[in-house]
Amino acid sequence: MKPFVIINFAMSLDGKIALGTGEQTKLSNEEDFKRVHELRNSVDGILVGIGTVLSDNPSLTIKEKYVKNPRNPVRIVLDSKLRIPENAKVLDGRSKTIIYSTVNNKKIPNAEIRVCGQDRINLKCMLDDLYSMGIKKLMVEGGSRIIGSFIKESLADKIIIFVSPYFMGPDAPNAAYFETAKKLEEMIKMKIISISRLGDGILLELEPDAITYNQ
Ligand SMILES: NC(=O)c1ccc[n+]([C@@H]2O[C@H](COP(=O)([O-])OP(=O)(O)OC[C@H]3O[C@@H](n4cnc5c(N)ncnc54)[C@H](OP(=O)(O)O)[C@@H]3O)[C@@H](O)[C@H]2O)c1
Repeated sequence: MKPFVIINFAMSLDGKIALGTGEQTKLSNEEDFKRVHELRNSVDGILVGIGTVLSDNPSLTIKEKYVKNPRNPVRIVLDSKLRIPENAKVLDGRSKTIIYSTVNNKKIPNAEIRVCGQDRINLKCMLDDLYSMGIKKLMVEGGSRIIGSFIKESLADKIIIFVSPYFMGPDAPNAAYFETAKKLEEMIKMKIISISRLGDGILLELEPDAITYNQ
């Protein structure tokens, strides 16, 4: 059994999720930040890759500004080689943090290390493990490689995208990084469930299409 997986991210009109330098930029508007924090408050776990921890240093907590008396979902980081720095905000002890790795050869403060996979994290093993610990609803917040892996391995049950009204250009990181499709059969089709306006942007909700090209 696996948790219900919701991927959530904000992207530009040309499908980019950070600046060309890899640095984080504000793509969400206030309405979207509120929606994201409410969504965080409704899940059991929030997951990011080590790339996002190293570039953005998110705390993955819920701001009282957006949600009164917030819950504290478990924070989950995928980090095959335990590259996480000890001063990362996800290690501040404000809520539980689990690091999935392929090794367990050092102590990391305020984090539980769990091993799944040999070269990089085996997502199915990790999802199974999370479910067995009571994580029934999981929010995946990025970045490109993590989103790409979840989509490519058909592990997302829902994808929510805030489309921000900016173009960023070709060298900024794509929303989902995986091997580029070279033929129609390699494209991954999604079903559009809803489209709505959110302030100056657009909110898109997608689900996997019943007939996916990659299956
Ligand atoms: N706009 C948004 O909503 C948003 C949200 C979050 C992040 N971002 C942006 O995303 C960018 C970071 O993306 P990123 O691709 O560099 O990093 P990432 O997706 O956060 O993390 C990728 C790393 O996770 C590890 N990993 C372990 N198992 C994996 C698996 N099965 N599949 C994929 N990765 C696995 C790998 O490193 P190891 O091999 O070392 O484990 C991999 O390099 C930043 O620029 C950030 O600002 C944007």
